[in-house]
Amino acid sequence: MNILGIETSCDETAAAVVRDGRRVLSSVVSSQADVHGPYGGVVPEIASRQHAERLPGVTAEALRQADVDWPAIDAVAVTYGPGLATSLVVGLAFAKSLALRLDRPLVGVNHLEAHVYSVFLGREPESMPEYPWIALIVSGGHTCLVRVEGVRRYGLLGQTVDDAAGEAFDKGANLLGLGYPGGPAIDAAADGGNARAVRFPVGRQRRESARFPGLRADLCFSFSGLKTALLYHLKAHPLSAAREEVPDLAASYQEAIVKALESRCARAVRGETCLAVVGGVSLNRVLRARMEALAEKRGFRLVLAERRYGADNAAMIAGLAGAGGGVAGPEALCLDVDPNLAIGAQ
Ligand code: KG4
Ligand code: ZN
Repeated sequence: MNILGIETSCDETAAAVVRDGRRVLSSVVSSQADVHGPYGGVVPEIASRQHAERLPGVTAEALRQADVDWPAIDAVAVTYGPGLATSLVVGLAFAKSLALRLDRPLVGVNHLEAHVYSVFLGREPESMPEYPWIALIVSGGHTCLVRVEGVRRYGLLGQTVDDAAGEAFDKGANLLGLGYPGGPAIDAAADGGNARAVRFPVGRQRRESARFPGLRADLCFSFSGLKTALLYHLKAHPLSAAREEVPDLAASYQEAIVKALESRCARAVRGETCLAVVGGVSLNRVLRARMEALAEKRGFRLVLAERRYGADNAAMIAGLAGAGGGVAGPEALCLDVDPNLAIGAQ
């Protein structure tokens, strides 16, 4: 069963062909980072126009790299949320028309659930741990902890009450003049820096948030104070012309984010056997090393996606659809985009 996946939830235009939910025949990702870079973040109107321009070529390239023709595509899978509404509509309309034209079923996929599934890509099924898992989803738009019991069963344990971890990286990099996207820039700039040079707040939640009743405060995150702390620090200690303070600041700022993620995960995995860390921020080298150390110390299994499937891609969309996750059947063609789609909501 060959599934063509389409992903346009933010600023990556992506298409992939995945066989039987695991074997990635192709995964093409066209990043718009260079287009949004001058603005310091994603401009939704530009992103949607770019998706419309790039999707036909990216999709044709995915088929070419997979060495399959249109008739060999058995279904079309597409992200319908969460994400930027104006970006999602382009991918959904494109996938619906392809499915109709090819006379193949359409599967609507939840982007967050697909990130969780990304750890399966390219791996042998037998090598994967049994459910349940705890998953930390860390991306540019989301930061949440979930208990995963299967490809259709998720229980939210905690989430950010304001900014996402990736957003904190992006905003911090902006303040430090490191460009967009900020995560990889801070990751690189922090090399050789002293992570204890400045103590930034780690955003401890003390009380249950009124906006998210039922979630344990000690499994929730808050990152908006962190970027404000960096802003005030830079006002009090402006960067010198040679910018020699940048490595220490980047390392200290990164440390605050990593520490916040690490402490919540340490609590969430108590009594559990597996933690999956997924999404763009899971590519962070310090985060990966710290999670590995935690797994060793506490004796749970850590699963990370292969680096090429850590950030946004369409292989995870096609993969999850192939494994039975997502909205299939006639109602898929009636789906509308859902920018705030929650994990586990179907
Ligand atoms: O999962 P993703 O590609 O897109 C969303 O679903 O949002 O995540 C993008 C985010 C961006 O905020 C980017 O700065 C961050 O992932 N990111 C990183 C690294 N690589 C990407 N953050 C920290 N360290 C990295 N190496
Ligand atoms: Zn994502």
